Formats: sequence, C-alpha cells, structure tokens
Amino acid sequence: MTAPALTAGPDLHLSPTEYRTVAELLYGHSGIRLREGKEALVISRLGHRVRALRLPSLSAYVAAIAKQELPGEFAHFIDVLTTNKTGFFREDAHFDFLIEEVFPRFAAEGREVKIWSAACSSGEEPYTLAMVVREHLPSSVRVRILATDISHRILASAQAARYTAAQAEGIPAPYRQKYWTRLPDGGIEAKPELTSLVRFAHLNLTEAWPMKGPFDVIFCRNVMIYFDRDLQSKLVQRFGALLAPGGILAVGHAESLTGITHGLEQLQPAVYRRAGGGW
Ligand SMILES: C[S@@+](CC[C@H](N)C(=O)[O-])C[C@H]1O[C@@H](n2cnc3c(N)ncnc32)[C@H](O)[C@@H]1O
Repeated sequence: MTAPALTAGPDLHLSPTEYRTVAELLYGHSGIRLREGKEALVISRLGHRVRALRLPSLSAYVAAIAKQELPGEFAHFIDVLTTNKTGFFREDAHFDFLIEEVFPRFAAEGREVKIWSAACSSGEEPYTLAMVVREHLPSSVRVRILATDISHRILASAQAARYTAAQAEGIPAPYRQKYWTRLPDGGIEAKPELTSLVRFAHLNLTEAWPMKGPFDVIFCRNVMIYFDRDLQSKLVQRFGALLAPGGILAVGHAESLTGITHGLEQLQPAVYRRAGGGW
C-alpha cells in the first residue's frame, strides 16, 4: 500500500520588499501604519487569502494586489489586515460620562440626538451606546446612532447583531436580560429595541464623509492609535467641524491628543467638547 501523497501548501515566504509593499498599500488606503516586526502576523492573515484563492505563494498574492489584478480582492486584503478588537462597555468611563453629564442635557432639550460610532468594528460599541440610550434617556428623545467601519466583513458581523456567550459576558446581567434574546447555543441576539437605533454603513475615515452631521456625540476610539500624527490631527479637526455646538468627542484612553491643534475643550481623559450649545 502506498502512502497518500502529501499536498504541499502555498509558499508563505514574505521578503522585506514585499512586506514594505503590503505596508504601503495598507497605509495608502486606510492610514494604518504597519509597524516593524509584524511579519508573522501579516503572513498568517494574508496566508488565509492565499489559500482561499489557491495561489501558489504569498509573493504571487502581493504582486497581484499591487498590480490590481485580483478584482474584488483589495477589500479582503484590507479586511484581514485591520485589527477589530473591541467589547461591550469597553472603557466604560465614557458611558458613565454620557449617562451622568450629557444625557440630562439631552433629556432637558428634548430634540433629536445624533451619535456616530466611527470605526465601530463588530458592533459592541454602538450596541453599548444603544443600551445606555434606551436605559437612561426618556423614550420621547429620538436618538439615531450611525456606526461605520472600513471593513466590510466586520460590518456584516455587526449587522447580524449576534454574539457568543463569551462576548455577552461583557454586558451587565440586567441589560442582557432586557435588550438581548438568548440563543439555543448560549449566544445572544440584539432585540429590535437596540437594532432599530443603529444604522451601519461602510466608511473609510481617510476619505470623504458623505454625512452632513452635526453630531451631538462622536466616538472614535482605538483606531487613531494605528494612524500617524498628521492623519490623527486632520481627523480630529474634521470631527470637531462635524460636532454640534457643545458636542462631545470620545477617543480611546491610549490615544492622546496632546500636541494636536483641535480647538476642543478637554473635559476629562479622552473626552473633548466643542464650545457652545449652552454648556
Ligand atoms: C480596534 S477596533 C476599535 C473598535 C471600537 N471603536 C472600540 O474601541 O472597541 C478598530 C477598528 O477600526 C477600523 N478601521 C481601521 N482603519 C479604518 C479607517 N481608515 N476607516 C474606518 N475604520 C477603520 C478597523 O476595521 C477596526 O474595526
């Protein structure tokens, strides 16, 4: 009996020049700076695409991406190279701040409120916003939450509004019982009370923003950390211009705006406010 032939997998070697090509393409499209020493991560992530396309090597993949020879593949290239780490109630001081300092003002004004979760990943951030809105604002206040991301794959998963039991652990039990349906596999699915508040859309922060605003609250957390100072500065100025007077910008706690000219007032760590609006 002869042993079955071992099928050799694709060659996943990535030369320093190819790594630079990948970094330049990613930076040129998304603003994400691929740091030195991420070769193993890049090989692992792009390796999935090489296998999915049955290409002989990573070199062939990188060459084809650079020459735009693979229709539709560039979106996958960006998808697999983005980092989507997120969670419910991540950096919860921001949600406490909204509940204690911002929502009472919205409740008193009674007008429609617009919130933007820029770089929303798989949806935990906008659904957390939706939960605190439902719980802490009177239903007479109409709220709309726009949630955007560059990754089509992650947006599809956000829109499905389903999470595993492990992911659901980040939600305090009273919220989980009220706003989520338990699935047979132990996971959870958002109830219409949450999904009706959130609209997802594809948006690359480095390109034109089609929405008019103004927004009362913008969350742009844990994405600018991947951008260089120049892009961070441009984005913060664009966020400022899209905020309503008195509007709030929340950034990730590791994302210092020190040294960036933005004209916003810092209220507490990682929370900024545009002047005006009677505050
Ligand atoms: C680490 S997650 C942060 C998610 C969430 N804001 C949080 O703090 O938990 C970063 C997200 O930014 C997205 N992203 C990266 N570059 C982007 C760009 N140029 N435009 C829009 N989204 C981008 C990624 O796809 C990813 O989902």
